[in-house]
Amino acid sequence: MEIKKNTGLKGEMTVPGDKSISHRAVMLGSIAKGDTEIHNFLQGADCLSTISCFQQMGVSIENKGEVVVVHGNGLHGLKKPGAVLNCGNSGTTARLISGILCAQNFDAALTGDESIQKRPMKRIIEPLSMMGASLISERDNGCAPLLIEGRPLHGIDYKSQVASAQVKSAILLAGLYAEGTTRVAEPYVSRNHTERMLKLFGAEVSLGENSAAIKPTPELYGRQLTVPGDISSAAYFICAGLMAPGSEILIKNVGVNPTRDGLIRVCREMGADIQFLNLKGQEEEPTADILVRHGSLHGTRIGGAIIPTLIDELPVIAAMACFAQGETIIQDAAELKVKESNRISVMTKNLQAMGADVTETEDGMIIRGGRPLKGTVIHSHKDHRIAMTFAIAGLCAEGTTKIIDSDCVNISYPGFYRDLAKLAQ
Ligand code: S3P
Repeated sequence: MEIKKNTGLKGEMTVPGDKSISHRAVMLGSIAKGDTEIHNFLQGADCLSTISCFQQMGVSIENKGEVVVVHGNGLHGLKKPGAVLNCGNSGTTARLISGILCAQNFDAALTGDESIQKRPMKRIIEPLSMMGASLISERDNGCAPLLIEGRPLHGIDYKSQVASAQVKSAILLAGLYAEGTTRVAEPYVSRNHTERMLKLFGAEVSLGENSAAIKPTPELYGRQLTVPGDISSAAYFICAGLMAPGSEILIKNVGVNPTRDGLIRVCREMGADIQFLNLKGQEEEPTADILVRHGSLHGTRIGGAIIPTLIDELPVIAAMACFAQGETIIQDAAELKVKESNRISVMTKNLQAMGADVTETEDGMIIRGGRPLKGTVIHSHKDHRIAMTFAIAGLCAEGTTKIIDSDCVNISYPGFYRDLAKLAQ
């Protein structure tokens, strides 16, 4: 994909459904009794991996495009899969499904692509094993392929070392089946979509300040859901609007759950003009229309409790910081090293290649903004968030930016380049 400098983005748009919420809706729908109708489901490759894993376990799922209907098998109705479950590129599929699999009355194996086979699974193997589960890393390297033997589980009180919604969710899903209460505490609050959705499906979930607890549930019940637009996808357009002079963009119906809205807080802290219109505090997830206007930005410091609320947006935030006056420091973000690529080193190298003044640190980056960027050849490392970040950086750079392996955007945003082209006209 080749991107050329643009004078400003203008117009109204929507972004596809939220990836995290789409995954969870299929998972809970599959183990609920009755039908779950999911509107605005994200048709990204990651969420399709989740659908195919549950289909392999005997769940009837009709994917009709905008609507997905899951005919749930009930809490104890999954069937032993006939083959190894393939999670593709999706860490959410692999980790959350493990929480469900370890409580079944059958054995299963799961794997995924090259990137998934390098991502840390010890973080779920450890707590789930404490609950009585059996998960074996086939190559004994703490990564997939995993062999999971279904077993009776018991509740635990677990203090996670990482603020990770995937870890928290795997434990809570296992907790649905465990004897007694299961509680997870984390250093900072991570996204809470699992807790919210479990409650909607009828589970007994209680929330503490940085913790969540679940009691075993006899049955979950299917329901109708509408997935809000993904704020992580909207992030590229929000940042593009702030970076490209002359821009004014309205992004409609975006999920603005406070455990996901750190990007907005950081942009405002940097001096951005962003407004929430039409804010709806939906029973399931809050949404708003987001109005963004270009303006001058200044550097900031990003670290601590805000990190999990913008973890997937840090690549595009780093690119935006190149267009802000002064220094931006990103710290406490070592988790970026174990995403679809090592996002600290890939971001640093790619931004440097465009002429930016960026230093890689142990747990983040230091970006000194104000230097003009120039187009060059960018390697996405097949990481969707890297590809989309550099499409945006390319819009604001001199000359042409060429992105290698640009089609990886299909993981989370299949129409990304088309939507970008519409606003860039
Ligand atoms: C996700 C949680 C985050 C995020 C990922 C999706 C989820 O990962 O980076 O894209 O759906 O729970 P961690 O919880 O591992 O930080």
